[in-house]
Amino acid sequence: MGTVITVTSGKGGVGKSTLSANISVGLADSGKRVVAVDFDIGLRNLDMILGLENRIVYDVIDVMDEKCKLPQALINDKFSKNLYFLPASQTKDKTVLDKDKVKKLIDELKEEFDFVVVDSPAGIEGGFEHAILAADRAIIISTPEVSSVRDADRVIGIIDAKSLKAQAGEEVDKHIIINRLKPDLVEKGDMLAIHDVTNILALPLIGVVPDDERVVSSTNTGEPVIRKRGTKSGEAVNNIVRRILGEDVPFMELAPENKFIAVFRRWFK
Ligand SMILES: Nc1ncnc2c1ncn2[C@@H]1O[C@H](COP(=O)(O)OP(=O)(O)O)[C@@H](O)[C@H]1O
Ligand SMILES: [Mg+2]
Repeated sequence: MGTVITVTSGKGGVGKSTLSANISVGLADSGKRVVAVDFDIGLRNLDMILGLENRIVYDVIDVMDEKCKLPQALINDKFSKNLYFLPASQTKDKTVLDKDKVKKLIDELKEEFDFVVVDSPAGIEGGFEHAILAADRAIIISTPEVSSVRDADRVIGIIDAKSLKAQAGEEVDKHIIINRLKPDLVEKGDMLAIHDVTNILALPLIGVVPDDERVVSSTNTGEPVIRKRGTKSGEAVNNIVRRILGEDVPFMELAPENKFIAVFRRWFK
């Protein structure tokens, strides 16, 4: 049975879809069979980030409503035979999702794939509880801003209360990614540092992704940044993938100042 990784956040627009896509690509490129499921409609949909928007015929709601069979809705990635994509419904109301149908769908996907990566709505939005329902692991994305961190903290509470694992008395494995870090701002004291964020959340970090305009341009061209060699952001996501797979990967240096890196390292041990 595969592992369900739900990628979520408190606030919208923090990089959930971007990182879901990149993590899915990375896991697939590591030889795992992966399906990326879009449970959200947002700024940049998963289909755009993967460059698959023109191939969509059926969506996740069509599968749940049995308007089509699961394989009819699954879209194979252009570059990886290991990676499939299940699109979000563009038109239908997210609140129509039914818990039993969500569970049935995810169970079916778990049988076929090593990893089911669920791109979830933000915690404040409709459909969130469905997206976290079947999570084995949750990766919570936060930017280094107080409001984002606070909202992420709230989401952690909901996962611990409402996921199926929580209901069965088990714990969902939770990690944080800090996205869009700007080391120069941190140094000037204008942005929360890593340890400020992890102090508030009290959860282990699985990665820090720098703010990088190539993330935006790669989204627009449908080529996830993880496939771009020589970018710090691509390397950061690649490291996250390796950590998900259980490798002990040291955290890379994102700031020129040693003081910062020292604090940073301490937290990542
Ligand atoms: N590390 C990053 N550096 C620069 N821009 C980023 C980064 N991560 C995400 N973005 C941009 O932020 C915006 C929101 O990202 P998105 O993945 O759609 O967020 P969400 O799914 O949480 O709503 C997009 O324009 C995306 O390209
Ligand atoms: Mg999104």
